[in-house]
Amino acid sequence: MTPQHNVTPAADWWRHAVIYQVYPRSFADANGDGMGDLAGVRSRLPYLRDLGVDAVWLSPFYASPQADAGYDVADYRTIDPMFGTLADAEAVIADAHGLGLRIIVDLVPNHCSDQHAWFRRALAEGPGSAFRKRFHFRRGRGENGEQPPNDWESLFGGPAWTRVPVDPSAPKAGEEGEWYLHLFAPEQPDFNWDHPAVQDEFRSILRFWLDLGVDGFRVDVAHGLVKAPGLPDMGHAEQLKLLGNQTLPFFDQDGVHEIYRSWRTVLDEYPGERIAVAEAWTPTAERTARYLRPDELHQAFNFHYLNTGWDAEALRAAIDSSLDAMRPIGAPTTWVLSNHDVVRHRTRLGGGEDRARAATLLMLALPGSAYLYQGEELGLPEVTDLPDEVRQDPSFFRDSGQEGLRDGCRVPLPWNGDAPPYGFGDGGSWLPQPADWAPLTVAAQTGDPASTLELYRTALALRRTHPGLGAGDAVEWRDAPDGVLVLRRPGGLVCTVNTTTAPVRLPSPGRLLLSSGALDPTDGEFTLPADTTAWWEE
Ligand code: GLC
Repeated sequence: MTPQHNVTPAADWWRHAVIYQVYPRSFADANGDGMGDLAGVRSRLPYLRDLGVDAVWLSPFYASPQADAGYDVADYRTIDPMFGTLADAEAVIADAHGLGLRIIVDLVPNHCSDQHAWFRRALAEGPGSAFRKRFHFRRGRGENGEQPPNDWESLFGGPAWTRVPVDPSAPKAGEEGEWYLHLFAPEQPDFNWDHPAVQDEFRSILRFWLDLGVDGFRVDVAHGLVKAPGLPDMGHAEQLKLLGNQTLPFFDQDGVHEIYRSWRTVLDEYPGERIAVAEAWTPTAERTARYLRPDELHQAFNFHYLNTGWDAEALRAAIDSSLDAMRPIGAPTTWVLSNHDVVRHRTRLGGGEDRARAATLLMLALPGSAYLYQGEELGLPEVTDLPDEVRQDPSFFRDSGQEGLRDGCRVPLPWNGDAPPYGFGDGGSWLPQPADWAPLTVAAQTGDPASTLELYRTALALRRTHPGLGAGDAVEWRDAPDGVLVLRRPGGLVCTVNTTTAPVRLPSPGRLLLSSGALDPTDGEFTLPADTTAWWEE
């Protein structure tokens, strides 16, 4: 039975939604074990309603040995005890709906955990096991099979293959066995999506969560499920540098689209526009658009935009190419600046809080849907000085893995108080919080009109009411000095952005609605300070 939805039944809600990513282990800790949990998420849902977001995406909370912070799933229908129980998940969904928030859960279909029941059977039963066919097991190359089956590299560094002993319960020296493919950590074996049991299982998992009332799925590594037939060699090293630049034999293969067509029929069986958003790294915006054809998924993260620096020309080009790619298929463009895998944009863009605020106001002015990552509304910087002994990102433990280390954007949120753990919970925090975050807590910023939190609240409230914000597929560019962007949206919203490090004088486009820094409008002109964005009603 589908639980009652109290959220407003808005057609096409996902075409303009602001979706807030909760990283459960770092959001709020209700049981005081230093690790965030679902009860903590539930207790803070009113905060998210007041912030003004439309939906919440929860990173994985499923049963998992946590080799990759929950992106290694041992059981897709069970909650990890460290996060709570299925009843807690149901309570989060019910409370969210009661507050008018939608819930999107993370789905990890490319790989599971090496502790997943299928993989354990595959290992236990040895070569020839029917369960090995649900993964990519191969004999190695070389006389004794001592070389990996092909030259693919793991995204976390090192080869994408691990060899298993013939009998893992009693391994004998010299009696080594087959290899299995893992595009990520060795604890994350890739599923074989040619196998009907894998396809059936994931349609069933979708239904399990849809029946519980979730409003959608964020599809992890959506571009990775299908591998090129025969698993051909890449032919050269440093394959990570090619990510997002060209088609690889393990990414963005045309066969993935058949999977998403079959998922769309499942999503469409349910009332209330249940959606799926793809994490799809592809060479071009056009390739990304293929995931969003009307009978496939609804949205994809715009990593081309996320990867664009604070440069007016480059931003304009990224905005235009994103909109141009989505317009022919009628899919909403999405925008994102931060998530749990990248350096927080306050730090990454190199301009501190002013630039981060300006970047956010530009993003929220663009047509389509936007993704926020927990803590960006507080202006949190990346934590760059975590000691090695507290780090948990698997790529840290494998050389030459994913660029950058991902723990620094995963430090638990500061809610209140003058010292760690700043109201995160009563039991410390799994990653240490900086000693100077007292001014950044939710409590410290609430009610201060100059704070970043209040800027987000005001911007999101305007998005709900102003006809020139939210859904759309076009912007009109006005002439502007070098380093400055002036865009107008149908509906009369004008956004002015100064990406330079000096103030500029511009003609006032109309009535000032909001700005990320102080302006002084006089005589039909105004000064837009360095690293500042302003919204105007024409
Ligand atoms: C995605 C996730 C990332 C994870 C990887 C493997 O990129 O966002 O956190 O490590 O997939 O599941």
